[in-house]
Amino acid sequence: MMFIGRPSRLLKTISSSFVVKAIYRTEELQVSRYLMLFYVFDQKGVWMMYPNKIVSKKRLAKSTYEFWIENALVGSHARPGQFVVVRVSEKGERIPLTIAETKGDLFRIVVKAIGKSTYELCTKSVDDILADVVGPLGKPSEIKQYGNVLVIGGGVGIAVILPIAKALKKAGNNITVIIGAKTLDELILKDEFMFADKLVMATDDGSSGYKGTVIDAMKEQIKTQKYDVAWAVGPAIMMKLASNVANEINLPLWVSLNSIMIDGTGMCGGCRTLVKTQESEEIKYVCVDGPEFDGRYVDWDSFMKRLEQYREQERLALENFIKQVGDLSWL
Ligand code: FAD
Ligand code: NAD
Ligand code: FES
Repeated sequence: MMFIGRPSRLLKTISSSFVVKAIYRTEELQVSRYLMLFYVFDQKGVWMMYPNKIVSKKRLAKSTYEFWIENALVGSHARPGQFVVVRVSEKGERIPLTIAETKGDLFRIVVKAIGKSTYELCTKSVDDILADVVGPLGKPSEIKQYGNVLVIGGGVGIAVILPIAKALKKAGNNITVIIGAKTLDELILKDEFMFADKLVMATDDGSSGYKGTVIDAMKEQIKTQKYDVAWAVGPAIMMKLASNVANEINLPLWVSLNSIMIDGTGMCGGCRTLVKTQESEEIKYVCVDGPEFDGRYVDWDSFMKRLEQYREQERLALENFIKQVGDLSWL
């Protein structure tokens, strides 16, 4: 905070590198939260070091794009299950996106355009610069040797499970992966799961592979194979249904909650979620306590209700954005 006013370029650079090191040297969350605030405040200095430049962009399916972004901090520290909070433009809102892969100074995200900010991001091109990126955030997935692991990805959730499944395989587990989408054209990243011990591809319309949802495929799979733990990531309704199935067979199942987020550092309360275990009922903050929780204990009704709470404002924001930029059906 001592650089409020007009910090010189040198001072900004020094303060940025101090902040970056301090965030990763401390285990004390409270300290890192304050430092994170500072990091956001002093964004122009950080920007010099972490340009958040889009270095590649690829269309994976209708309205779904992969981006590689230059940011050495995220690239070198991210672990499976973590996410970034991105602000696409100076006046934009902050949206959470999972880190699908890292390589050197780069990190990869896969984004599906469903509202104003994701549409805005998907209109960006190579060499464009994102206003800011904060991360890596959230607790990493608990990767260890479990034995037989079932990993399920629905729609754009397939990108979220990719680094988790890879890390679980590397840790010596026997991996069954189920990926599913409405139709073959939306079944993204399928070639990247060839490392799995068993890969089931499902489409709702039967255009390729198993005909049915990932939940139907999950029910089939658990008839013939016993699992020690599972992951399921995708739309909230899919994660809820997977959790119900897991509950019936007493299978621990991690879901990655896609709650509304604002700061991403545990201070605003925007992502609060009710988690009910047998012993307790607790409010958890998805950004710092998650994003992964055992889906069997998530209070899905209140979670899904909170997701809906700004629907009208979200609809208007997208409508206004389209008025400004023109038709986006080509995305
Ligand atoms: P909003 O203005 O917030 O509007 C979204 C609207 O779309 C809502 O009205 C909602 O009801 C509706 N909607 C929800 N699902 C669908 C759907 N399937 N089709 C059509 N409409 C729908 N998203 C990604 O694409 N990739 C990721 O890697 C990713 N990772 C995430 C990680 C975390 C930790 C969290 C919390 C979320 C993640 N999300 C990811 C979700 C992403 O953050 C949201 O999609 C985004 O914030 C939406 O912002 P928006 O302004 O574009 O849409
Ligand atoms: P989608 O609606 O196309 O569904 C993908 C698949 O999920 C379907 O093909 C089906 O197999 C399964 N599914 C969906 N609804 C189901 C139902 N009612 N019953 C049984 N199975 C069902 O998915 P999409 O459009 O790619 O999803 C986008 C959503 O995913 C957004 O809401 C976004 O917020 C969320 N998301 C979550 C995360 C996360 O970290 N949890 C990450 C990325 C995206
Ligand atoms: Fe603000 Fe989690 S996003 S507390």
